[in-house]
Amino acid sequence: SGARDLAGTTVVVTAGGTREPIDPVRFIGNRSSGRQGVALAEAARDRGADVALIGANLEVPPPVGIELVPVSTVAELRDAVLSRAADADIVVMAAAVSDYRPVNVAHTKMKKDAVGDDVSIELTANPDILADLGALQHPRPVLVGFAAETEADADALAALGAGKLERKNADLIAVNRVDDGRGFGTSDNEVLIVGSGSRIVTTVDGSKRVVADAILDAALTERP
Ligand code: C5P
Repeated sequence: SGARDLAGTTVVVTAGGTREPIDPVRFIGNRSSGRQGVALAEAARDRGADVALIGANLEVPPPVGIELVPVSTVAELRDAVLSRAADADIVVMAAAVSDYRPVNVAHTKMKKDAVGDDVSIELTANPDILADLGALQHPRPVLVGFAAETEADADALAALGAGKLERKNADLIAVNRVDDGRGFGTSDNEVLIVGSGSRIVTTVDGSKRVVADAILDAALTERP
């Protein structure tokens, strides 16, 4: 757009995918590359915002001119986000955050001859960072969450987004189609942006940068 309509605002973006260690060489991770979050950080920077990018295991080069906070686990990502939330105008949770982590992390590499043929790894729930932000007292930042869904039907996607928005008390949810090779690791994205009251704010199908600008447009209209 070329507009510096985010000048004077502070935007926090999480990007990438968390890794929860099992032992020193193994982890529970996901397919998020960080491209959409990095595109969001770049778009916010270009629109004049002061941006902090909290990057979990980014597979893409970090953008220039943006404070990068590297994290790996959910606990690290949570600390980084919560410590910056009070000063933020907009928080976009684009990172894919693991819902669970191993209860016990082995200090040495797990060996097949020691653990045998059948192994169970006990998992426990991680805190939901977006829901924690949603529970903050007002004035709190505008909160944008993501939902990666494999549904193809627009109404079903919107309903999933609306449910997530309500459960986490977010302001906007960007519902991302990740079926059929869409979403993860690709340069394009198909996103439906849902607001309060199950409102479909907009649908975007384009580069991750185009999607990023649409999300920031929507976040700006949510500002008090
Ligand atoms: O519930 P679900 O994982 O689908 O929600 C996705 C959204 O919630 C994303 O914005 C993600 O960053 C955020 N999330 C979180 N903490 C978690 C799980 C997801 O902040 N433990």
